[in-house]
Amino acid sequence: MLILKTLKDLRAWRTHINGSVGFVPTMGALHAGHLSLAERSLVENETTIASIFVNPTQFAPHEDFDTYPRTLEKDVELLENIGVSTIWAPPVSEIYPDNFQTSVRVSGVSEVLEGTFRSDHFEGVTIVVNKLFMQVQPTRAYFGEKDYQQLAVLRKMVEDLNIPVEIVGCPIIRDDKGLALSSRNAYLNPSELKIAQQLNGVLKQASDLIKTISIQESEHQLEQNIIDLGFHKVDYITLRCAKTLQEITSIDDQETRILVAAFLGTVRLIDNMEI
Ligand code: PAJ
Repeated sequence: MLILKTLKDLRAWRTHINGSVGFVPTMGALHAGHLSLAERSLVENETTIASIFVNPTQFAPHEDFDTYPRTLEKDVELLENIGVSTIWAPPVSEIYPDNFQTSVRVSGVSEVLEGTFRSDHFEGVTIVVNKLFMQVQPTRAYFGEKDYQQLAVLRKMVEDLNIPVEIVGCPIIRDDKGLALSSRNAYLNPSELKIAQQLNGVLKQASDLIKTISIQESEHQLEQNIIDLGFHKVDYITLRCAKTLQEITSIDDQETRILVAAFLGTVRLIDNMEI
Protein backbone atom coordinates (compact mmCIF):
# COMPACT_ATOMS: atom_id res chain seq x y z
CA MET A 1 0.00 0.00 0.00
CA LEU A 2 1.29 3.41 -0.95
CA ILE A 3 0.19 6.06 1.57
CA LEU A 4 0.88 9.54 0.23
CA LYS A 5 1.03 12.30 2.83
CA THR A 6 2.50 15.29 1.04
CA LEU A 7 1.40 17.14 -2.05
CA LYS A 8 4.89 16.74 -3.44
CA ASP A 9 4.64 12.95 -3.23
CA LEU A 10 1.11 12.94 -4.63
CA ARG A 11 2.18 15.03 -7.64
CA ALA A 12 5.20 12.81 -8.24
CA TRP A 13 2.91 9.74 -8.14
CA ARG A 14 0.34 11.38 -10.47
CA THR A 15 2.88 12.23 -13.18
CA HIS A 16 3.65 8.55 -13.63
CA ILE A 17 0.04 7.39 -13.91
CA ASN A 18 -1.39 6.83 -17.35
CA GLY A 19 -4.96 5.87 -18.18
CA SER A 20 -8.12 6.48 -16.19
CA VAL A 21 -7.94 7.37 -12.51
CA GLY A 22 -10.89 6.67 -10.22
CA PHE A 23 -11.00 8.68 -6.99
CA VAL A 24 -12.89 7.91 -3.78
CA PRO A 25 -12.84 10.84 -1.33
CA THR A 26 -13.58 9.85 2.29
CA MET A 27 -13.08 11.00 5.86
CA GLY A 28 -12.01 7.50 6.92
CA ALA A 29 -13.67 5.26 9.54
CA LEU A 30 -14.49 3.14 6.54
CA HIS A 31 -17.40 0.73 6.29
CA ALA A 32 -19.05 -1.28 3.53
CA GLY A 33 -20.66 1.90 2.13
CA HIS A 34 -17.29 3.50 1.44
CA LEU A 35 -15.86 0.24 0.18
CA SER A 36 -18.69 -0.12 -2.37
CA LEU A 37 -17.52 3.14 -3.97
CA ALA A 38 -13.94 1.89 -4.13
CA GLU A 39 -15.06 -1.45 -5.57
CA ARG A 40 -16.92 0.32 -8.36
CA SER A 41 -13.94 2.54 -9.06
CA LEU A 42 -11.67 -0.49 -9.28
CA VAL A 43 -13.95 -2.02 -11.92
CA GLU A 44 -14.27 1.17 -13.99
CA ASN A 45 -10.73 2.58 -13.90
CA GLU A 46 -7.17 1.50 -14.53
CA THR A 47 -6.00 3.10 -11.28
CA THR A 48 -7.94 3.82 -8.09
CA ILE A 49 -6.93 6.19 -5.31
CA ALA A 50 -8.89 6.84 -2.10
CA SER A 51 -8.39 9.85 0.13
CA ILE A 52 -8.75 9.86 3.88
CA PHE A 53 -9.01 13.36 5.29
CA VAL A 54 -11.25 14.53 8.13
CA ASN A 55 -12.00 17.94 6.73
CA PRO A 56 -12.21 20.57 9.50
CA THR A 57 -13.98 23.20 7.37
CA GLN A 58 -17.14 21.13 6.93
CA PHE A 59 -17.74 20.76 10.67
CA ALA A 60 -19.45 23.52 12.66
CA PRO A 61 -17.75 24.45 15.95
CA HIS A 62 -20.31 22.44 17.98
CA GLU A 63 -20.01 19.37 15.73
CA ASP A 64 -17.87 16.26 16.17
CA PHE A 65 -14.61 17.16 14.35
CA ASP A 66 -12.44 16.39 17.39
CA THR A 67 -14.17 13.13 18.21
CA TYR A 68 -14.80 11.96 14.64
CA PRO A 69 -13.46 8.36 14.51
CA ARG A 70 -9.93 8.17 13.12
CA THR A 71 -8.98 4.58 12.29
CA LEU A 72 -6.25 4.90 9.66
CA GLU A 73 -4.63 1.51 10.26
CA LYS A 74 -7.90 -0.37 9.91
CA ASP A 75 -8.94 1.75 6.90
CA VAL A 76 -5.68 0.93 5.13
CA GLU A 77 -6.26 -2.77 5.75
CA LEU A 78 -9.85 -2.65 4.45
CA LEU A 79 -8.82 -0.82 1.28
CA GLU A 80 -5.87 -3.12 0.74
CA ASN A 81 -8.13 -6.18 1.07
CA ILE A 82 -10.32 -5.08 -1.83
CA GLY A 83 -7.38 -4.13 -4.04
CA VAL A 84 -6.91 -0.36 -3.59
CA SER A 85 -3.18 0.26 -3.56
CA THR A 86 -2.89 4.05 -3.17
CA ILE A 87 -4.19 6.35 -0.44
CA TRP A 88 -3.95 10.13 -0.20
CA ALA A 89 -3.93 10.94 3.53
CA PRO A 90 -2.63 14.49 3.96
CA PRO A 91 -2.34 16.32 7.28
CA VAL A 92 -4.56 19.42 7.72
CA SER A 93 -1.57 21.73 7.07
CA GLU A 94 -1.12 20.24 3.60
CA ILE A 95 -4.72 21.12 2.61
CA TYR A 96 -5.13 24.36 4.55
CA PRO A 97 -1.75 26.06 4.92
CA ASP A 98 -1.61 29.23 7.03
CA ASN A 99 -3.19 32.18 5.30
CA PHE A 100 -5.56 30.09 3.17
CA GLN A 101 -8.03 32.56 1.64
CA THR A 102 -10.15 30.94 -1.05
CA SER A 103 -13.73 29.71 -0.93
CA VAL A 104 -16.08 27.92 -3.32
CA ARG A 105 -19.80 28.37 -2.81
CA VAL A 106 -22.60 26.75 -4.77
CA SER A 107 -25.81 28.66 -4.15
CA GLY A 108 -29.34 27.25 -4.69
CA VAL A 109 -28.97 23.53 -4.22
CA SER A 110 -26.68 23.95 -1.19
CA GLU A 111 -28.94 26.46 0.55
CA VAL A 112 -31.88 24.16 1.28
CA LEU A 113 -32.24 21.19 3.69
CA GLU A 114 -28.78 20.49 5.17
CA GLY A 115 -27.79 24.02 4.15
CA THR A 116 -30.43 25.43 6.49
CA PHE A 117 -29.32 23.39 9.48
CA ARG A 118 -25.56 23.26 8.87
CA SER A 119 -24.90 26.68 7.39
CA ASP A 120 -21.22 26.49 6.34
CA HIS A 121 -21.12 22.74 5.82
CA PHE A 122 -21.31 22.64 2.04
CA GLU A 123 -18.76 25.41 1.60
CA GLY A 124 -16.39 23.17 3.53
CA VAL A 125 -17.25 20.24 1.29
CA THR A 126 -16.96 22.16 -1.98
CA ILE A 127 -13.61 23.74 -1.15
CA VAL A 128 -12.07 20.47 -0.04
CA VAL A 129 -13.44 18.42 -2.94
CA ASN A 130 -12.29 21.13 -5.33
CA LYS A 131 -8.81 20.98 -3.86
CA LEU A 132 -8.77 17.19 -3.86
CA PHE A 133 -9.77 17.20 -7.54
CA MET A 134 -6.96 19.65 -8.40
CA GLN A 135 -4.49 17.52 -6.48
CA VAL A 136 -5.50 14.05 -7.65
CA GLN A 137 -6.74 15.01 -11.14
CA PRO A 138 -9.07 12.03 -11.40
CA THR A 139 -11.02 10.91 -14.46
CA ARG A 140 -13.99 9.88 -12.30
CA ALA A 141 -14.93 10.51 -8.67
CA TYR A 142 -17.27 8.29 -6.66
CA PHE A 143 -19.80 9.60 -4.14
CA GLY A 144 -22.60 7.87 -2.25
CA GLU A 145 -26.28 8.71 -2.55
CA LYS A 146 -26.25 8.41 1.26
CA ASP A 147 -25.24 12.08 1.24
CA TYR A 148 -27.66 12.86 -1.53
CA GLN A 149 -27.53 16.64 -1.25
CA GLN A 150 -23.72 16.58 -1.19
CA LEU A 151 -23.82 14.63 -4.45
CA ALA A 152 -26.23 17.16 -6.00
CA VAL A 153 -24.08 20.11 -4.84
CA LEU A 154 -20.90 18.54 -6.23
CA ARG A 155 -22.57 17.75 -9.57
CA LYS A 156 -23.57 21.42 -9.81
CA MET A 157 -20.08 22.62 -8.86
CA VAL A 158 -18.47 20.45 -11.51
CA GLU A 159 -21.01 21.61 -14.10
CA ASP A 160 -20.68 25.30 -13.25
CA LEU A 161 -16.87 25.32 -13.06
CA ASN A 162 -16.33 22.99 -16.03
CA ILE A 163 -14.26 20.67 -13.88
CA PRO A 164 -13.24 17.75 -16.10
CA VAL A 165 -14.18 15.03 -13.61
CA GLU A 166 -17.07 12.62 -14.10
CA ILE A 167 -19.13 12.42 -10.91
CA VAL A 168 -20.43 8.91 -10.29
CA GLY A 169 -23.30 8.54 -7.79
CA CYS A 170 -23.49 5.16 -6.06
CA PRO A 171 -26.41 3.49 -4.23
CA ILE A 172 -26.80 3.56 -0.45
CA ILE A 173 -25.46 0.50 1.34
CA ARG A 174 -27.65 -0.53 4.30
CA ASP A 175 -27.47 -3.04 7.14
CA ASP A 176 -29.76 -6.09 7.08
CA LYS A 177 -32.56 -4.06 8.73
CA GLY A 178 -32.33 -1.20 6.23
CA LEU A 179 -30.30 1.33 8.24
CA ALA A 180 -27.99 3.29 5.93
CA LEU A 181 -24.41 2.58 7.01
CA SER A 182 -22.70 5.61 8.53
CA SER A 183 -19.59 6.16 10.64
CA ARG A 184 -21.87 8.03 13.06
CA ASN A 185 -24.05 4.94 13.69
CA ALA A 186 -21.29 3.96 16.12
CA TYR A 187 -22.61 6.69 18.44
CA LEU A 188 -26.01 4.90 18.84
CA ASN A 189 -26.69 2.77 21.92
CA PRO A 190 -28.47 -0.59 21.36
CA SER A 191 -32.00 0.73 21.92
CA GLU A 192 -31.36 3.76 19.69
CA LEU A 193 -30.00 1.43 17.01
CA LYS A 194 -33.29 -0.51 16.98
CA ILE A 195 -35.22 2.72 16.45
CA ALA A 196 -32.78 3.95 13.79
CA GLN A 197 -33.28 0.74 11.85
CA GLN A 198 -36.94 1.66 11.34
CA LEU A 199 -36.27 5.03 9.74
CA ASN A 200 -35.99 3.68 6.20
CA GLY A 201 -39.37 1.95 6.66
CA VAL A 202 -40.98 5.38 7.13
CA LEU A 203 -39.45 6.63 3.87
CA LYS A 204 -40.95 3.62 2.12
CA GLN A 205 -44.43 4.66 3.30
CA ALA A 206 -44.23 7.88 1.27
CA SER A 207 -45.12 6.54 -2.17
CA ASP A 208 -48.40 5.05 -0.89
CA LEU A 209 -49.31 8.12 1.16
CA ILE A 210 -48.99 10.58 -1.71
CA LYS A 211 -51.49 8.54 -3.70
CA THR A 212 -54.22 9.54 -1.26
CA ILE A 213 -53.19 12.82 0.40
CA SER A 214 -51.27 15.94 -0.63
CA ILE A 215 -47.48 16.21 -0.50
CA GLN A 216 -47.68 18.54 2.48
CA GLU A 217 -50.06 16.29 4.39
CA SER A 218 -47.86 13.29 3.59
CA GLU A 219 -44.81 15.10 4.96
CA HIS A 220 -46.66 15.89 8.19
CA GLN A 221 -47.85 12.32 8.56
CA LEU A 222 -44.36 10.93 7.96
CA GLU A 223 -42.86 13.35 10.47
CA GLN A 224 -45.38 12.15 13.07
CA ASN A 225 -44.51 8.52 12.26
CA ILE A 226 -40.83 9.26 12.89
CA ILE A 227 -41.60 10.90 16.24
CA ASP A 228 -43.81 7.92 17.14
CA LEU A 229 -40.83 5.61 16.54
CA GLY A 230 -38.95 7.43 19.31
CA PHE A 231 -36.92 10.03 17.41
CA HIS A 232 -36.57 13.24 19.41
CA LYS A 233 -36.55 15.82 16.67
CA VAL A 234 -37.09 15.87 12.90
CA ASP A 235 -35.12 18.57 11.06
CA TYR A 236 -36.94 17.73 7.84
CA ILE A 237 -38.73 14.99 5.99
CA THR A 238 -39.59 16.26 2.57
CA LEU A 239 -40.27 15.32 -1.03
CA ARG A 240 -38.10 17.27 -3.44
CA CYS A 241 -37.09 17.55 -7.08
CA ALA A 242 -34.29 14.96 -7.30
CA LYS A 243 -31.96 17.31 -9.17
CA THR A 244 -32.42 20.77 -7.69
CA LEU A 245 -33.79 19.68 -4.28
CA GLN A 246 -36.33 22.49 -4.47
CA GLU A 247 -39.90 22.02 -3.21
CA ILE A 248 -42.45 20.46 -5.52
CA THR A 249 -46.21 20.69 -5.75
CA SER A 250 -46.80 17.39 -7.55
CA ILE A 251 -44.68 14.36 -8.28
CA ASP A 252 -45.82 13.99 -11.87
CA ASP A 253 -43.39 16.13 -13.83
CA GLN A 254 -40.00 15.36 -12.36
CA GLU A 255 -37.85 12.78 -10.66
CA THR A 256 -38.64 12.95 -6.96
CA ARG A 257 -36.60 12.13 -3.89
CA ILE A 258 -37.66 11.91 -0.27
CA LEU A 259 -35.04 13.13 2.21
CA VAL A 260 -34.96 13.02 5.99
CA ALA A 261 -32.78 14.28 8.85
CA ALA A 262 -33.75 13.40 12.39
CA PHE A 263 -32.22 13.21 15.85
CA LEU A 264 -32.05 10.19 18.11
CA GLY A 265 -30.67 11.64 21.31
CA THR A 266 -27.69 13.69 20.14
CA VAL A 267 -27.10 11.60 17.02
CA ARG A 268 -28.36 13.14 13.79
CA LEU A 269 -29.25 10.61 11.10
CA ILE A 270 -29.90 11.31 7.43
CA ASP A 271 -31.44 9.06 4.81
CA ASN A 272 -33.18 9.37 1.46
CA MET A 273 -34.69 7.35 -1.34
CA GLU A 274 -36.10 7.65 -4.81
CA ILE A 275 -39.89 7.97 -5.07
P1 PAJ B 1 -17.61 10.41 4.28
O1 PAJ B 1 -18.73 10.70 5.20
O2 PAJ B 1 -16.43 9.66 4.81
O3 PAJ B 1 -18.18 9.65 3.05
C1 PAJ B 1 -17.36 9.35 1.94
C2 PAJ B 1 -18.25 8.84 0.83
O4 PAJ B 1 -18.88 7.62 1.21
C3 PAJ B 1 -19.37 9.84 0.49
O5 PAJ B 1 -19.50 9.95 -0.92
C4 PAJ B 1 -20.59 9.19 1.12
O6 PAJ B 1 -21.81 9.53 0.50
C5 PAJ B 1 -20.25 7.72 0.92
N1 PAJ B 1 -21.04 6.88 1.83
C6 PAJ B 1 -21.12 6.98 3.19
N2 PAJ B 1 -21.99 6.06 3.67
C7 PAJ B 1 -22.48 5.38 2.61
C8 PAJ B 1 -23.42 4.33 2.45
N3 PAJ B 1 -24.05 3.79 3.49
N4 PAJ B 1 -23.68 3.87 1.20
C9 PAJ B 1 -23.04 4.43 0.12
N5 PAJ B 1 -22.15 5.43 0.21
C10 PAJ B 1 -21.86 5.90 1.43
O7 PAJ B 1 -18.83 12.48 2.52
C11 PAJ B 1 -17.74 12.72 3.01
O8 PAJ B 1 -17.00 11.79 3.70
C12 PAJ B 1 -17.05 14.07 2.91
O9 PAJ B 1 -18.02 15.09 2.87
C13 PAJ B 1 -16.11 14.19 1.68
C14 PAJ B 1 -16.86 14.05 0.36
C15 PAJ B 1 -14.99 13.15 1.77
C16 PAJ B 1 -15.44 15.59 1.70
O10 PAJ B 1 -14.78 15.82 2.88
